[in-house]
Amino acid sequence: MKAVVVYASKYGSTRGIAEFIAEKFRQTGMQAEARHTGDVQNPGDYDAFVIGSAVYMEHWLKEAKEFVTGNRDLLANRPVWLFSSGPLGTRTTDAQGRDLRTVAEPKEIAGFRDIIKPRDHRVFFGVYDSSKLGFGHRMMRILPAARNLFPEGDFRDWNDIEAWAISIARALETPQATPGSNEGAQEG
Ligand SMILES: Cc1cc2nc3c(=O)[nH]c(=O)nc-3n(C[C@H](O)[C@H](O)[C@H](O)COP(=O)(O)O)c2cc1C
Repeated sequence: MKAVVVYASKYGSTRGIAEFIAEKFRQTGMQAEARHTGDVQNPGDYDAFVIGSAVYMEHWLKEAKEFVTGNRDLLANRPVWLFSSGPLGTRTTDAQGRDLRTVAEPKEIAGFRDIIKPRDHRVFFGVYDSSKLGFGHRMMRILPAARNLFPEGDFRDWNDIEAWAISIARALETPQATPGSNEGAQEG
């Protein structure tokens, strides 16, 4: 079983999540590596995929969307798990009491469910460090509203991410019945 954790990340925090998941997989005895979307040479070499992107303005990064759509036929026939890294802060619900991880689901995930049928999609809290913002995002530093919407800090929940990684490793250890096959059916 060879798994790849594919990621798209602007400032590195999503890459950190991807590397952590790959490390957890290796600790369970699986062959696994984390790769940027642009560094996956032969996707067909992998038996399982975890694909994650940072979320900007309610969307996955372009390269992550393109990885999914460009490999849709392959991914539809492999076990795939998706994650998004986005919400910031320590609040887990919004003003209406809705779970932020549900509210923060990026726009493209519904379409991905149709085309590649992922086993799961998870939203993890992310990181915001205004001192690291690139040119395109620098206005965020001076907008007063941004200070409330974008609290500074590292909000990644490593226990949550680890539990998810272990659940994937367990699922991959358990062979799935192929639809229409009698494998595993009781004789008699
Ligand atoms: C300009 C900007 C826009 C953002 N938009 C969203 C968003 O729409 N939804 C969300 O959940 N997080 C949003 N975030 C938070 C990022 O997704 C979070 O900081 C993430 O951890 C960044 O990942 P990266 O370090 O891998 O780029 C935004 C952050 C910035 C700076």
